[in-house]
Amino acid sequence: MEKLRIQGGRRLTGEVRVGGAKNAALPELVASLLTDEPLRLTNVPAVRDVATIVRLLEHLGVAVERGDATARAQLGTLEGTEAPYDLVKTMRASFLVLGPLLARTGRARVSLPGGCAIGARPVDQHLAALARLGVDLRVEEGYVVAEADRLRGGEVVFDTPTVGGTEHVMMAAALADGTTTLRNAAREPEVADLAVLLNAMGADVEGAGSDTIVIRGVRELGGAEHEILPDRIEAGTYVIAGALCGDSLRITGCRPSDFEAVLDKVAETGADLEEGADSVRVTARPPHESVDARTQPHPGFPTDMQAQYMVLMTQAEGTSIITETIFENRFMHVPELNRMGAEIAVDGHSAIVRGPRKLGGARVMATDLRASASLVLAALAADGETVIDRLYHLDRGYESLVGKLRGAGAKVERFRE
Ligand code: UD1
Repeated sequence: MEKLRIQGGRRLTGEVRVGGAKNAALPELVASLLTDEPLRLTNVPAVRDVATIVRLLEHLGVAVERGDATARAQLGTLEGTEAPYDLVKTMRASFLVLGPLLARTGRARVSLPGGCAIGARPVDQHLAALARLGVDLRVEEGYVVAEADRLRGGEVVFDTPTVGGTEHVMMAAALADGTTTLRNAAREPEVADLAVLLNAMGADVEGAGSDTIVIRGVRELGGAEHEILPDRIEAGTYVIAGALCGDSLRITGCRPSDFEAVLDKVAETGADLEEGADSVRVTARPPHESVDARTQPHPGFPTDMQAQYMVLMTQAEGTSIITETIFENRFMHVPELNRMGAEIAVDGHSAIVRGPRKLGGARVMATDLRASASLVLAALAADGETVIDRLYHLDRGYESLVGKLRGAGAKVERFRE
């Protein structure tokens, strides 16, 4: 099994370049099901989740050619309309193929994604919204079986802003008869980026990035070229690394306006931040101040940055409270951080972090993608050597992490044991 070994306590300096957003690449690759013409995507991150969605799309008949940070995806002949459990279970975003398959063929059978380590994560909002578009849905043996002669535009009000749900319905509604209005839609930058791609394909989507999105259905969509937006979570992770141990560390190729909530928070803790148009320069300025954080849908503080921010708070003077409002079980990094010397107590949806505590190297275990990132950050800030097990979680969403950190002066290596 591959592991990561990190020798902590080194200053990070120089440049780290951020890749394309995993969470945009996934739905945008799925959009290839909406047309027979090729999609050409650039700034595609080389991460495992992208490989997983490519496998599912290939199973459905899409030919995908990967180049250096590029992908060309073209649907040949649809080879069935079923997304089996094996291909859906490892990644929830796979469920997004349901809407496009329905829009193209009038039927689809897609495995329910089930829960995952960070919570139950239902798809009820996806299903309720598709029902509003005239889809007939039933659940059979763990599969959603969906049928619709023609998708009809309709009014959808989400109970809760859901990123995947908003993207899913946007894709389906792009080929529906009539107009669909999504209210209480997710406002994440990746939703807006998907709309840019859909419009380049000939769709008529307005308002993506706000809480109301209007989609006027068109009869067919065509090919397009599109550059995927930078990964704001990857960028935010390196910003925290810089706040912990950076010395004029430059994070480049990012869009600071997409993660202002993170930058504001980190600046409040006392780190020295300098924003450029597509870069952030960060220098650690201990002592760090304790600042509470509460995860919220965009433009609030992202749940995908909660674990990483917690590491910074373990080094801050005093007590901070970090509250998770999006997922019910997203504190699995806490016991591992405590094993490294942190003092964090979980009370319901909040983590109470007492700092500053000296972190020391240890053998720790990654439990999910962002929890793994928090362990890497803790290891960079710790004295001594940390070994992180279950590296595959990290590979789901961080491209060339070892190379990027090494480039900034970290002592880190992958090894097998
Ligand atoms: C996406 C991101 C993920 C991020 C999350 C929240 C991708 C591929 N993944 O996940 O990294 O952590 O947004 O920013 O883009 N919910 C329901 N019913 C539904 C759908 C969602 O109750 O039908 C709930 C979820 O359980 C969760 C909340 O809504 O509590 C937000 O989930 P959602 O925005 O849908 O997350 P994902 O799209 O799965």
